[in-house]
Amino acid sequence: MQIAIDGPASAGKSTVAKLVAKQLNYVYCDTGAMYRCVTLLVLRRGVAPDDAAAVTALLKDVKISFKPSADGQLVFLNGEDVSLTIRQEDVTNNASAVAAIPAVRTALTDQQRAIADAGNIVMDGRDIGTTVLPHAELKVFMVASVEERARRRFLDNQEKGIDVPVETLEKEIAARDHKDSTRKTSPLKQAADAVLLDTTSLSIEEVVAKIVSLYQERR
Ligand code: C5P
Repeated sequence: MQIAIDGPASAGKSTVAKLVAKQLNYVYCDTGAMYRCVTLLVLRRGVAPDDAAAVTALLKDVKISFKPSADGQLVFLNGEDVSLTIRQEDVTNNASAVAAIPAVRTALTDQQRAIADAGNIVMDGRDIGTTVLPHAELKVFMVASVEERARRRFLDNQEKGIDVPVETLEKEIAARDHKDSTRKTSPLKQAADAVLLDTTSLSIEEVVAKIVSLYQERR
């Protein structure tokens, strides 16, 4: 069975998807981490994130892998553990430009489908229900207000020692939503058959329980 969880930036998708996968003993795939890996290499090579030709040329040098860990999974780029590095602000704020390049999407979509082919999966991202796994048995589209998402990211950042004011985060999140929803290839969009879940006033546990119950209804 395939579970697709999509939604805008910082709606809590990864946290929830990880917990759902753990509870159901499914594989978890964080597709945002894959776009972040490409973005990290783009920045390291000094390539402009919106230079489609240069970014496309660099794709052959990207090898992404995941390894399960105690609190979810580690992300490797060409053998290097980049789990923390890909969460830095410069990567976060440039990922939408890189993710808008069609060749990047094709390459990562192929890898994501190969991962899903291996068995039961919970995959989160922006286009999983619409493009990557259009036949997923359960599709959830998670949303929350911009204010609430900025608040959650602020608390997250504090734990990581990243210091960005909540007002700046609100602007960055809104800008990322806009870029992700208006790009030509696979924009962020609720699939026609996805269940809309507004998590603004729900706890993580409540969201996980809701998704698990939707899953049980479909088994
Ligand atoms: O989910 P996360 O915030 O880690 O994703 C980082 C960026 O990667 C998003 O802002 C979006 O531009 C891109 N992305 C995407 N399609 C996906 C997952 C992420 O375009 N399936």
